[in-house]
This record gives sequence, C-alpha cells and structure tokens, in this order.
Amino acid sequence: MVSMSIVINGRELASKISAKVKERVEELKRKGVYPCITAVLVGNDEASAIYVREKIKQCEKVGIKAQLLHLPQDMDTESLIKEVKKLSLDKTVHAILVQLPLPRQIDENAVLESISPEKDVDCLNPLNLGRLLVNDDCIESCTPKGIIRILENFNIPLEGKNVVVVNRSKIIGKPLSLMLLKKNATVRICHSKTEKLADHLSRADIIIVGVGKPKFLTVDMIKSGAVIIDVGTNKVNNKVVGDVDFESVKEKASFITPVPGGVGPMTVAMVLENTVLLAEKFGGAND
Ligand code: GUN
Repeated sequence: MVSMSIVINGRELASKISAKVKERVEELKRKGVYPCITAVLVGNDEASAIYVREKIKQCEKVGIKAQLLHLPQDMDTESLIKEVKKLSLDKTVHAILVQLPLPRQIDENAVLESISPEKDVDCLNPLNLGRLLVNDDCIESCTPKGIIRILENFNIPLEGKNVVVVNRSKIIGKPLSLMLLKKNATVRICHSKTEKLADHLSRADIIIVGVGKPKFLTVDMIKSGAVIIDVGTNKVNNKVVGDVDFESVKEKASFITPVPGGVGPMTVAMVLENTVLLAEKFGGAND
C-alpha cells in the first residue's frame, strides 16, 4: 500500500518565525539597538541577486535595516577584503552576509576570514565553523539551521536515525552534519565520488539532498516512509525545481519539502533570526 506524504510548508513556518523575530526587533529598538544587516553581492550572478533581494525584502518586513553592497564582478580579493573589514568595524552594522559563490578570481576563504566572527550571520568565518564543531552556543549556518528547525517543528526524531546528506559544501553539508550529530543522528555525508550511493540512500530514514540536478532523487532510491528534504534549486523551462522527483517521491515518503516553498524560505527566516541574535548578543545602541 502506498500512502501520501505530508508536504512541508516552508513558507508558513518561516512566516511564524518572522513574526517572532519582529517582536525581538521591536524589543531591541526600545533599547536603542536598531538591527542592521549588510548583504555583500559581488558581480552579476542572476540567482545570487534574486536570493539577496529576497533576504533584504524579508528583513525590512520585520523592521531590520537591510542594505546591499553591490560590488563589481572583476574586483580583486584585496579590495573585497577591505570592504568586508570596513563593515566589520562599522558599529551600525550587526550582521554581514557575503553571498556565495564569489567570482572565480577571488580567494573565497580569505574573504570569509575577514568577516568579523561577531557579525557572521551565515557562520562562514572558520572560527565560527570551528566553534560549531566544539561548542553548543554559537552562530549556526542559515540553511542547516532552517532544515533542523523543519525537522523539529514536525517532531521528526533524529536520535539514532540514519541520515544521509548528499552535499559536502561549507554552507550546507558540513555544518548540517555537525548539527545533526549534535542531535545524536547517525550521519553519512555522500557526494559525487561516493560509491554505491543507492545503497546508502535505500537505508536512510532521512535524506537531505542538494546536488543541483533535477530529478536526481527518484522514488526507487528511497525507503518507504523516509523523510525527504530537498535543498536543490534548479531552473527547468523557466520554472524552479529541486533535486527530487517530487511527484513520485511524495507517494512513498512520510514528509517531503517542496521546491519552491520548502527549505528556501526557512533559510531566509534564519538570516533574520541570526541577525537579531547577533544584535542582541553583540550590538550596542546605534540610533
Ligand atoms: N549562496 C547560496 N545559498 C547561500 C546562503 O544561504 N548563504 C550565502 N552566504 N550564500 C549562499
């Protein structure tokens, strides 16, 4: 017998979180702290521009001041670091978001190291990534945090469960694996060189996939009742789709996130939440 899965509404959950963030923003403002984020967008990557615009729009909705620093595609590492350091020193700015990917000529790691750890909204400074490894109380990467929040919200147990993460990036797979491990999940990180990926997937209680390939995950690959989290964003015939063959997989999964409207809005909600968190923790009055 096949049963339908619960399709997780990321937009609805994100808007509940935003409403709570809004209250915290108002509380901060009563103390003279005006939460402020600067998004750094380098170059003309169309998808990045769309993501950043959405983050800014949602920040403004809850009363967070959000500014865009749009820099030229052909700039060098040194000039970019100079800009990021300026923001790191600017007392009116609580959160810095450097949108990835950066243009090819830029030394990405050098740039991320120049983000003040106290303003690092996406947990990209290696100091914060190290803290994520060893501390309980630290800033957490937005997309992984949004995914964990989805799982918690739907009371999906993690302890002892087989979780397969098909992504090993510093913004998704690596931090997410650490965060799942903290919740006592048994975590396997798979990637393009993984042998017998199908075997790993077929045993997974929870699959989190972000590989950038439409219909990468098909119904024959999953176990009945598995939880499917789709972090893919692809464009097919001008439509945004994820990495999961949604229509067939949803018949066999217990929970599934759609694209769009699943993880994406949760990432944005976590940008808002982390901005307020940083302002609460490190922000002085700046009105
Ligand atoms: N590029 C794609 N997704 C993200 C994200 O969540 N944060 C940042 N900084 N860059 C991204």
